[in-house]
Amino acid sequence: MSYEEILGRTDVNDLDAILAITNTDVNEVIHAVRDNADAIFTWDYERSRPQLGRLYEKAKTSQWNGEVDLDWSQDVDQEKLAREMGQITTPDPNLLPNFADSPLAKWGEKEWVQHGIESQNWMLSQFMHGEQGALVCTAKIVETVPWIDAKYYASTQVMDEARHVEVFAKYLDTKLSGHYPINAHLKMLLDDIIADSRWDMTYLGMQIMVEGLALAAFGMMQQVTPEPLLKQLLRYVMSDEARHVAFGVLSLQEYYQELSEPELKERQEFAFEAAVRMRDRFLQQEVWERMGVAPKDAIHALKMPGAKPEDDLFQQLLFAKIVPNCKKLGLLDANNGWLRERFTEMQVIQFEDFVDTSDEYASLDEVAKDRELA
Ligand SMILES: [Fe+2]
Ligand SMILES: [Fe+2]
Repeated sequence: MSYEEILGRTDVNDLDAILAITNTDVNEVIHAVRDNADAIFTWDYERSRPQLGRLYEKAKTSQWNGEVDLDWSQDVDQEKLAREMGQITTPDPNLLPNFADSPLAKWGEKEWVQHGIESQNWMLSQFMHGEQGALVCTAKIVETVPWIDAKYYASTQVMDEARHVEVFAKYLDTKLSGHYPINAHLKMLLDDIIADSRWDMTYLGMQIMVEGLALAAFGMMQQVTPEPLLKQLLRYVMSDEARHVAFGVLSLQEYYQELSEPELKERQEFAFEAAVRMRDRFLQQEVWERMGVAPKDAIHALKMPGAKPEDDLFQQLLFAKIVPNCKKLGLLDANNGWLRERFTEMQVIQFEDFVDTSDEYASLDEVAKDRELA
């Protein structure tokens, strides 16, 4: 398939085409997508997949309760937080040749703080929507995966995801200052994942791509935020996410061994599409719009000299989990390295030998660590 067929545009980095995709129904409350799949019973109850069994046991003992395990009594001063984060993230205009002629040049501290606040609201809102995507996708996996061990494990993930939606929604409602509707790129990706009839595509889209990115993004945010409640919330969510990504890697590793090169090509194309959609959403176009600045003007103003969209270090780091996991699944090198070439173009191939996530979940289990300390 061509880029046009996979992405709807011929140039991956065509900024106008990316920004032309917007959420046109921001008041929508119910969103229906046909999921095109049979619910599968299996009469084979034999526990033949010990790695999934271990994951299931771990999940049963590492459940936590957002209502009691997080201290919601602490106040969050969002403005102070935006100022502190702004010191790390606000660009230095002297390094940006297009800045002086842009609408951002007129911004004072007030606007930058407001931008920081909107950014937080946006980021946490997108996390929350993504978590609901995981909830729905994983419930679908319970129905569609033909292996009993995978049905058992997936059921624990459904509970985890309900908890994640719950805590992000509560944090937004009680500590921040407003929701954002789902970003159009994220929505398009979630729709594509849930609409695919093949059970392994749900795993690839959700457990490998969306959750792999979430694990990296939560890790970065957890390290930089000075806000203790968010830090704690993210530590616990990440403990679960590490298991979820492991679930994807362990399941697909087995299944992909049976697939032919043309079948693997479809998986590579899907992984590439997902990677691009997720990168596109981080342009935060809705935040610029709410601040009254055309996204294109803001992106142009903040561009480093000679930089291409794929040069952004933050965006590259988001792929630190996805690329090694795709390698472990054989997706980088199937079909003469088709996905390796795509990830090279996106400048994320350097992560291929980072630790994959098939057993990292044991070391990321912060819930167990806290319980031991207590
Ligand atoms: Fe989650
Ligand atoms: Fe998850």
